[in-house]
Amino acid sequence: MIRVAVIGATGVVGQEFIVSLDNHPWFKVEHIAASQRSAGKRYSEALRDPNSGVIKWHQREDIPEYVKDMILENVDNIKPDSVDLVFTALDSDDAKVIEPIYAKHTPVISTAAAFRYDDDVPILIPGINDEHTELLNVQRKHRGWNGFIAPLPNCTTTGLAITLKPILDRFGLKNVFMTSMQAVSGAGRSPGVAALDIFDNVIPYIPKEEEKVQKEAIKILGRFNNNAIEYANFKVSCTCTRVAVIDGHTEAVFVETREKCEPEDVKSAMLEYSKHVSIKDLPTAPKDYIYVHNDPSRPQPRLDRDMNDGLTTVVGRLRKDNVFEYGIKYVLVSHNEKMGSAKGAVLLAELLKSKDIIS
Ligand SMILES: NC(=O)c1ccc[n+]([C@@H]2O[C@H](COP(=O)([O-])OP(=O)(O)OC[C@H]3O[C@@H](n4cnc5c(N)ncnc54)[C@H](OP(=O)(O)O)[C@@H]3O)[C@@H](O)[C@H]2O)c1
Repeated sequence: MIRVAVIGATGVVGQEFIVSLDNHPWFKVEHIAASQRSAGKRYSEALRDPNSGVIKWHQREDIPEYVKDMILENVDNIKPDSVDLVFTALDSDDAKVIEPIYAKHTPVISTAAAFRYDDDVPILIPGINDEHTELLNVQRKHRGWNGFIAPLPNCTTTGLAITLKPILDRFGLKNVFMTSMQAVSGAGRSPGVAALDIFDNVIPYIPKEEEKVQKEAIKILGRFNNNAIEYANFKVSCTCTRVAVIDGHTEAVFVETREKCEPEDVKSAMLEYSKHVSIKDLPTAPKDYIYVHNDPSRPQPRLDRDMNDGLTTVVGRLRKDNVFEYGIKYVLVSHNEKMGSAKGAVLLAELLKSKDIIS
């Protein structure tokens, strides 16, 4: 078994890691850590808010037995060489300091933005840009590390990049416009979004989010060439909003392609891609990587976010866009804590193990 640590185990994403790693065939959680507030407490005790008594457990299922009585550690107490892999679910400022301490010795899979934009760091979506994992060797050499930092994208980029990939491969991409309707859980617990701000409301601004999506999509869909990533040659413009949905990001996407494309051709490109996706034999892989609805009232976050345990990117409303010479538009739903972070990170770890990059 590969011994793992989960850092930030009490947060929205950390809790999803705890569930995703329960009874995993390859990975065993040996250490869990969170902030000073939680260190030294039993996991289940640390999730209880001392002020309100509320249990801050975000999942529908119970806290897994294996972790209930595990003691949360301070990050300084976990020896990097006592584990084979570290999953981090930390705020970016904390990740900037903590992740390199582990990465000097041990592979780190990160859900934070701290290192995503460095030239020797890939932004990985298993099944989309697997060849970018080669950059991890370049990073190791550059930095003189035994480990590396392998970040996932921002959770809003994930569904967008997954659906653009088959379109890019078949028709080429020129311009992409996207408006997101993002779930409240995407903002995490600390500080999170205040109930009074989000009920009965749409917040039209999420700091730094649009810039992240715009940069990340062209990096992820770029080519690995000559030990570096060549960014993809298309432009992305987006508006990111926060809506009163608990989990699951919805995105309205408008795409100008380089070659003529009909909605039926885009649907078949997405379904073909899904059928042959590289990660389909990994333990966590979903039955459908991309699912396309014909029903014009789908996808909806409440109905579609949990398809194949939140690992499927669900598309609908595929139709022609007549503003562009060649264009299509669609709506997608992607689960921000599942494929968009913790479960996607576990899938990435499985991919890296299958390539012998971690052992
Ligand atoms: N939420 C999402 O849907 C989502 C999706 C994709 C990516 N992300 C990214 O994932 C990261 C985590 O997000 P989140 O939503 O899970 O945040 P969160 O709910 O606020 O959780 C933060 C976690 O970090 C811990 N922590 C804080 N300071 C620490 C320190 N100095 N040392 C160790 N642990 C510390 C917290 O522990 P305490 O409980 O003790 O405070 C908590 O476990 C962020 O970078 C976020 O941008 C989030």
